[in-house]
Amino acid sequence: MVVAADLAWRAGGANIALDLGCGSERVPFYLLERGWHVIAVDQDPSVLTGLRNFKRIRSDEALSIVCADFNTMVFPDVSLIHAGYALHHASPEQFAELWSKISTALSPDGVFAGHFFGEHDQFAKDDRFSVFRAEALRKFLADWRIEHWNEFRGYGHRDPSRWWHFFTVVARKQEASV
Ligand SMILES: C[S@@+](CC[C@H](N)C(=O)[O-])C[C@H]1O[C@@H](n2cnc3c(N)ncnc32)[C@H](O)[C@@H]1O
Repeated sequence: MVVAADLAWRAGGANIALDLGCGSERVPFYLLERGWHVIAVDQDPSVLTGLRNFKRIRSDEALSIVCADFNTMVFPDVSLIHAGYALHHASPEQFAELWSKISTALSPDGVFAGHFFGEHDQFAKDDRFSVFRAEALRKFLADWRIEHWNEFRGYGHRDPSRWWHFFTVVARKQEASV
């Protein structure tokens, strides 16, 4: 996130970030502190409570909170999109359209930061989730400039019985990306 926020930041720009499936106030607060305008999206109202309390107390104009399904909502124009451990919630049938919305919403040199689950993750057993093979993901992102790529395969820290396989990606949109 640190890399992505710095890469996408433009002095004097609107600097609007969209956090898809924000899950908590962690990333929105981080971005707000760094001067971003943040649109925090989650379909679960319970995870938005912290952000709503913050907004009520601080009346912070830089924060917008949207309780919606990112598969159906219309995305505003932004220069940074974060989707942490959330994109797999788009089914394989929904994924192409979701990704097209992400590409279209980003400004010409906008930045995407987030995770894609891999074929060896336990989510891969459930065909409602979108998961990727490394080569397929590289191909999928061929028109983007990859600024950061990390593949993780291993047991979780919090739950040592849970096997994870995911890619952490920061990618900058190029002319051919849409
Ligand atoms: C594993 S949490 C990740 C939270 C946070 N982004 C992070 O990096 O820690 C996934 C979040 O995505 C949200 N989510 C799942 N499907 C969604 C959808 N279709 N639209 C909006 N939010 C969704 C869930 O409610 C959950 O809060």
